[in-house]
Amino acid sequence: MTAPDRGPEPGHDHPGLAARRATLGYDRRVISRDLDVEVPDGSFTVIIGPNGCGKSTLLRAFSRLLSPSTGQIVLEGRSIHEFRAKDAARRIGLLPQSSSAPDGITVRELVERGRYPYQTLLRQNRQRDEEAVLRAMAATAVTQYAERPVDELSGGQRQRVWVAMALAQETPTLLLDEPTTYLDIAHQIELLDLFARLHREGRTMVAVLHDLNHAARFATHLIVMKDGAVVAEGPPAEVMTAAMVDEVFGLAAIVIDDPLTHTPLVVPHSHAHGTLD
Ligand SMILES: Nc1ncnc2c1ncn2[C@@H]1O[C@H](COP(=O)(O)OP(=O)(O)O)[C@@H](O)[C@H]1O
Ligand SMILES: [Mg+2]
Repeated sequence: MTAPDRGPEPGHDHPGLAARRATLGYDRRVISRDLDVEVPDGSFTVIIGPNGCGKSTLLRAFSRLLSPSTGQIVLEGRSIHEFRAKDAARRIGLLPQSSSAPDGITVRELVERGRYPYQTLLRQNRQRDEEAVLRAMAATAVTQYAERPVDELSGGQRQRVWVAMALAQETPTLLLDEPTTYLDIAHQIELLDLFARLHREGRTMVAVLHDLNHAARFATHLIVMKDGAVVAEGPPAEVMTAAMVDEVFGLAAIVIDDPLTHTPLVVPHSHAHGTLD
């Protein structure tokens, strides 16, 4: 495998998705205060950070599920809350971290829900909806399960169905919260390759990943979060350093050159092998 193309440079005339001095949280609990962060337009942005640092909270804000208490989320130069719901849903798709499918729903029916933002009373776009659903199922290799109930699939198969639903939405920006969880290593890479292809085809991809090496390999832009704040951002080659991994994750590691992709490869020390001596 080779490193994914770097994709287009962020264009200044096409402002990406961004948080501008946004305060995000739940009830009275603030998770991120005055957060300023940008997803470069056309990037494959990967967000990393320890459990509970606010990654999912940020994706929820980016997808309008959560309103900032101060500041704003900006899309195409204006507040995302100024868009009508369907207009926003045609621009930004979200694969949430955990989702549960309605009882008995089939794979095809779930993927069809991705077309909701396009549906009008006249339903004149049936053909386009149908094609988008078939394409999304093919891309994620779930076509063979199309008529099966989602709750009868394995965790990995189910995860791919959720990805298919997000793909069927055909948005220029796709937010993916831990999309590779529950997948075996081959299916993880397969899915990340699919995201890299979608990125090359022009989409802005934003993914929360736990695997630092997948993050370094696939991201064109890395955002590192800790305690609700962005502590580093930029190209993986600059951001993924041993000092960062130690500071953010409390993990002693060395960072070497990935012989296949020449992206940073994080190799943790381990007490079990005495490498901390
Ligand atoms: N719905 C919620 N209500 C209250 N607190 C929440 C909710 N969701 C997440 N939190 C809290 O917000 C913090 C950040 O969570 P989250 O954004 O899910 O972190 P991450 O995705 O980085 O693991 C955590 O302390 C979590 O417990
Ligand atoms: Mg999360």
